[in-house]
Amino acid sequence: MAPTNGSTLATESWDIVDFSTVINKGHGVKGLSEMGLKSLPKQFHQPLEERFSEKKILDQVSIPLIDMSNWESPEVAKSICDAAENWGFFQIVNHGVPLEVLERVKEATHRFFALPAEEKRKYSKENSPTNKVRLGSSFVPLVEKALEWKDFLSLFYGSEEETSAFWPPVCKDETLEYMKSSEVLIRRLMHVLVKGLNVKRIDEIREPMLLGSRRVNLNYYPMCPNPELTVGVGRHSDISTFTILLQDDIGGLHVRKDSGNDWIHVAPISGSLIINIGDALQIMSNGRYKSIEHCVIANGSQNRISVPLFVNPKPEAILCPFPEVLANGEKPLYKPVLCADYSRHFYTKAHDGKKTIDFAKIGDF
Ligand code: OGA
Ligand code: NI
Repeated sequence: MAPTNGSTLATESWDIVDFSTVINKGHGVKGLSEMGLKSLPKQFHQPLEERFSEKKILDQVSIPLIDMSNWESPEVAKSICDAAENWGFFQIVNHGVPLEVLERVKEATHRFFALPAEEKRKYSKENSPTNKVRLGSSFVPLVEKALEWKDFLSLFYGSEEETSAFWPPVCKDETLEYMKSSEVLIRRLMHVLVKGLNVKRIDEIREPMLLGSRRVNLNYYPMCPNPELTVGVGRHSDISTFTILLQDDIGGLHVRKDSGNDWIHVAPISGSLIINIGDALQIMSNGRYKSIEHCVIANGSQNRISVPLFVNPKPEAILCPFPEVLANGEKPLYKPVLCADYSRHFYTKAHDGKKTIDFAKIGDF
């Protein structure tokens, strides 16, 4: 059983973990992993239907891989829009973000999670002086029936001043560099995707609706004693406009194919970035572009990191289908919702596949 005053992690096997040790004291799931637990604590046991043993992994299928060198050519633009419609997920190479920048942010992620617990705990929900910087484990532990085997540092970009005041020194510059070096790519993708919806002009109202804010997460998935019983991240779709995801070479991300129980592994490709459409763009495109469910398997022998850059509408934006998309008489599938309300809804419940978007749906479909 859990020790009641678990200030150290010296116990070798717990059925039930002392959650304050994991979360509030800064050790995280990584701390549990490093104790050399022989078996997975009960809180992390996922219900059978969420485990990977119940999923069919299609090993002959992969998501599209797109070379972005000639991003403005009609062929490349078409493959991007087709991938957004049919897969919701694709990988890109020759994307223009320098590979050294990607290496540096991966190293910075390892550096942050290698800090002693006393350092990391400064960024926990209880201790962080701002809600724009937050270290967490699992997703929303207080409401989850089963926990996910993951730690993360979430960094919301407010301003240059807030960043230099609050982001952790060991990863601040590298994360900011990754964010800034991705801006050209973000605008290229937006340009192509929006053109594919017949939207001709991105004015001062549309731009913040599409690209008004940024959040970078540094994700750490420690080695797990019983990977088959849990997940790294449970089934969810991102709420972003789109996400740029950098993963290391370990693998483990899976994407749902169509709406059945078939899943596709997103095999790591060195130097590539993964792009996935989020709920905000699914709503703005009235369902043309798909925000696809994905999840991450836990790993029994290696630690994995990933660094998603969530390109989000600004919190004050109203999400709704573009009039151009409805111009042909198509019925709106989603009602207008305030982006901040949509995010709040997402962050107050456990991961539950595609259910977040019901918040904006008109009727049942
Ligand atoms: C996420 C996510 C996938 C990964 O953070 O939203 O889906 O590979 N991450 O870590
Ligand atoms: Ni995701």
